[in-house]
Amino acid sequence: MSYQDVYNRWKNDPEAFWMQAADAIDWDTLPSKALTDKGDHMYEWFADAKVNTCWNAVDRHVEAGRGEQTAIIHDSPITHSKREISYVELRNRVASLAGALRAKGVEKGDRVIIYMPMIPEALEAMLACARLGAIHSVVFGGFAANELAVRIDDAKPKAIIAASCGLEPGRVVHYKPLLDGAIDVATHKPDFCVIFQREQEVAQLVEGRDFNWHGFQYGVKPAECVPVEGNHPAYILYTSGTTGQPKGVVRHTAGHLVALNWTMKNVFNVDPGDVFWAASDVGWVVGHSYITYAPLIHGNTTIVFEGKPVGTPDAGTFWRVISEHKVKTFFTAPTAFRAVKREDPKGEFVKKYDLSCLDQVFLAGERADPDTIMWAQDQLQKPIIDHWWQTELGYPAICNPVGIELLPVKLGSPSLPMPGYDMKVLDECGNELPAGELGAIVSKLPLPPGTLPTLWNAEDRFKKSYLTNFPGYYETGDAGMIDEDGYVYIMARTDDVINVAGHRLSTGGMEEVLAGHPDVAECAVIGVADQLKGQTPVGFLCLNAGADRDYGEVVKEVVKLVREKIGPVAAFKLAVVVDRLPKTRSGKILRGTMVSIADGTKWKMPATIDDPVILDEITEALKSLGYAQA
Ligand code: COA
Ligand code: AMP
Repeated sequence: MSYQDVYNRWKNDPEAFWMQAADAIDWDTLPSKALTDKGDHMYEWFADAKVNTCWNAVDRHVEAGRGEQTAIIHDSPITHSKREISYVELRNRVASLAGALRAKGVEKGDRVIIYMPMIPEALEAMLACARLGAIHSVVFGGFAANELAVRIDDAKPKAIIAASCGLEPGRVVHYKPLLDGAIDVATHKPDFCVIFQREQEVAQLVEGRDFNWHGFQYGVKPAECVPVEGNHPAYILYTSGTTGQPKGVVRHTAGHLVALNWTMKNVFNVDPGDVFWAASDVGWVVGHSYITYAPLIHGNTTIVFEGKPVGTPDAGTFWRVISEHKVKTFFTAPTAFRAVKREDPKGEFVKKYDLSCLDQVFLAGERADPDTIMWAQDQLQKPIIDHWWQTELGYPAICNPVGIELLPVKLGSPSLPMPGYDMKVLDECGNELPAGELGAIVSKLPLPPGTLPTLWNAEDRFKKSYLTNFPGYYETGDAGMIDEDGYVYIMARTDDVINVAGHRLSTGGMEEVLAGHPDVAECAVIGVADQLKGQTPVGFLCLNAGADRDYGEVVKEVVKLVREKIGPVAAFKLAVVVDRLPKTRSGKILRGTMVSIADGTKWKMPATIDDPVILDEITEALKSLGYAQA
């Protein structure tokens, strides 16, 4: 069947399409129907079914006689260790952990925060929650205590599962003090914490609150899988919005199972038993969907990689892992390839490894620049597939679905909408724009199974963020165009979200931190183009009258403040002090114009600007940082 056939089959009868995809899932109670229209543009999928995610991701493969197959390969060039866990071992480990959580009171519907580095225990913690019907919320290790505290107060977890430490090249990330700091700051307190002690740093446990990962499992009864309703939340994953308060994306259980499983063959072109590797982190949606859930649900072997594309130990690490573990499909972010390309432009490391096992590479998380795609294609001689999606959607929405058909590639476009997505480009008034014209990218409601049904405890924010501007459509927050062949081009965000090294960050959140500095009267943060990371944040600070300070000191202080409050992942290293910020007459900061000046792209003087002279000062400030080189 061609892509067009599959897409048409979905378009002609979406519910029948997803009901058929649902056949690949083990149900405790079959869904009586696919879609429930709850009114007011709110939808749910397979709501009346009963199902368990852990059963589908683990136990059923053991029952089917594939228990000895490797489920997880942990490869850590940082700790120089490798380990394999079979499906039967995984089942036993997860059942025991789930049993211990239950013995301490964790039940279906309770929230559990997971704060762990790239070790198999992170996946086991997620699966143990799924086994009980508990709702996990994984927090990325690069966030500071304050960000963790915000998530604790929003999710109100009964338990927190953490590791004693994470490992970045040359630096131990002290998870336990971060966790203790977050619990101190948070209003909500978990009943207990479970700490996985890593040998690189053994953490001090708080008597009565903290339990050792191994010790607390001793002698417990392993837990069986608890069937949950199809619309029961499997997890909450916080992602950046326009403010410092992150959005808690909710994922319902049944749609998640059906859709992720469908993508493994149709999009990523792997069969059960094949090795699939997403070089991301469990703290991001890519890690949720394509390190933990989809490969395991589909019966693949997944790789948990604790390392970086370069420096652990060299720019050949990706190729070593692919060749050693026989990876068939590899998924990474363009920024990772740019890092490799910078160190090994001629691909000397590529030549050292036998990559005959590799069939295709997928890139997502940020715009894949044609140079990077061409470089990777030249080096690897394999299809390099750009694809687009978001935390909210949970799996590829615009893609070249290699498992169905390798479509002609158009550089700069992630290709065509997948079944489930009827994408349009709209102008500000909601009118559909013709091919080639730039506007807001939206998808017709209902969204397919596995996408966000709402935000955690924030239905109004959900409607306001995604459904209100363009009634009847989901607003992606991205701007772009669709060409005459239906190929979608993603050009920019329409909000204050930036993408730094494939990490989604809120400039609004950074501005909130800068504004908290006692000498800062007003500020703006913009994302400027960066050759390695795609974008990098730059801060502009207007100081309070009378703040007679060395500007360099203030800049150092705000850089430290962002690292402390948001975390190292914000990669906020550049700021300048300016007299005033460019604004419209109504007082809106002209961030878009500032970005164009910084990137040296064409821009027009905004008609509504209050005082054009300020832009000269902004240009000079940007030049002092090495930007605005027209
Ligand atoms: N825990 C703690 N700190 C972390 C972290 C984690 N899990 N991940 C990143 N950080 C820290 C880094 O150590 C760095 O700290 P530093 O300022 O002390 O150097 C900071 O956060 C910024 O990290 P990053 O933006 O990743 O920059 P980098 O220079 O360390 O690495 C790349 C650059 C391109 C190699 C790296 O970003 C990369 O591999 N990106 C792939 C992105 C990806 O997989 N995205 C997931 C979506 S698909
Ligand atoms: P996240 O929710 O972290 O996955 O980030 C989603 C955002 O990253 C999207 O809304 C886009 O702005 C950007 N993005 C992801 N993949 C791509 C891609 N292939 N091309 C362009 N932008 C992308």
